[in-house]
Amino acid sequence: MNKKIFSGVQPTGNLHLGNYIGAIKNFVELQNEKDNECVYCVVDLHAITVKQDPNLLKNNIRETTAAFLASGLDHKKSIIFNQSLVPSHSEVSWILGCTARMGWLNRMTQFKEKAGKDKEKASIGLYIYPILMASDILLYDSTHVPVGEDQKQHLELSRDIAQKFNSDFNCPNFLKVPEPLIQKRFARIMSLKDGTKKMSKSDPSDLSRINLTDKKDEIINKIKKAKTDNSPLPADEKKINERPEVENLLGIYSSLSSQTLQDTINEFGGKNFSDFKKKLSDLVVEKISPISDEINKMKNDNTYIDKILKGGAEKAEKIASKKVKEIKKIVGF
Ligand code: AMP
Ligand code: TRP
Repeated sequence: MNKKIFSGVQPTGNLHLGNYIGAIKNFVELQNEKDNECVYCVVDLHAITVKQDPNLLKNNIRETTAAFLASGLDHKKSIIFNQSLVPSHSEVSWILGCTARMGWLNRMTQFKEKAGKDKEKASIGLYIYPILMASDILLYDSTHVPVGEDQKQHLELSRDIAQKFNSDFNCPNFLKVPEPLIQKRFARIMSLKDGTKKMSKSDPSDLSRINLTDKKDEIINKIKKAKTDNSPLPADEKKINERPEVENLLGIYSSLSSQTLQDTINEFGGKNFSDFKKKLSDLVVEKISPISDEINKMKNDNTYIDKILKGGAEKAEKIASKKVKEIKKIVGF
């Protein structure tokens, strides 16, 4: 069976090495597997669930798209578009909002985290965010959804919505129940400054992350300054458990060189950090600099990016509007 893949990334600022290893690198691999049909969406409707500066948002939509393309997503092989260009997403979100239950949404931990102490002040959009995500996925009959661990709960909600809709309207298998694709290894890349915190675009310290737009010397400098400890590199996978920064750097090396953690430990075990960091810098520069150069080149060509998004949206709309028609018929419109 061919897989139908859907995933989305919010255009909310600089993408970093964590996004690349945890998400985009997999998007590219899935795109290049035979027979997969992939849809990758810049989810700008999700972005406005928290306050955005309209000019910055426009820029970020283009920059996230540029990062997709520079990392190897190909608009001839995958459908690449931004969500707000395809009205079906919002339309179906209303209908599925009438299927989803308050009790389900009340359990969402991401809402609790993002809304913080003052829940009353959070936008309604932030609360119903997972329903829009379900609409994204279900509109394309997606069978597999590559996401980070943090999105697992939202994906379960999408499955619940699909099942309840199919059962409420007595249309078995009409909405396809999607499977999550969650990486087992290297699914969480940590901050370069604190191995217990996720690498994140919202960390105030730029030294905590490698941005996909960083220049070669910035990458080298950040790896040089990355936190480590005084012992040599471990010779055994079991010995890294209490050394989160070391585990993270070894993980980054393993993922980018497509080898297991044990392979990396065999290569560097017992050596000191200066040798390892030099090799790690070379590898990150080799993998990320071409992406960064491409993104920076595309920054001067908004017309090109906009054309790709528009072309992608036309293809997406064809699939989505057909599904919306069927959904409307089923609910009695
Ligand atoms: P976000 O930047 O939170 O919108 O996430 C976009 C995608 O990147 C999602 O699939 C996340 O799970 C993934 N992601 C974000 N930060 C990291 C990280 N530090 N390590 C691994 N994956 C990440
Ligand atoms: N909520 C996801 C995130 O923050 C982004 C997203 C929106 C998504 N719609 C999606 C991911 C559909 C997978 C499928 O990372």
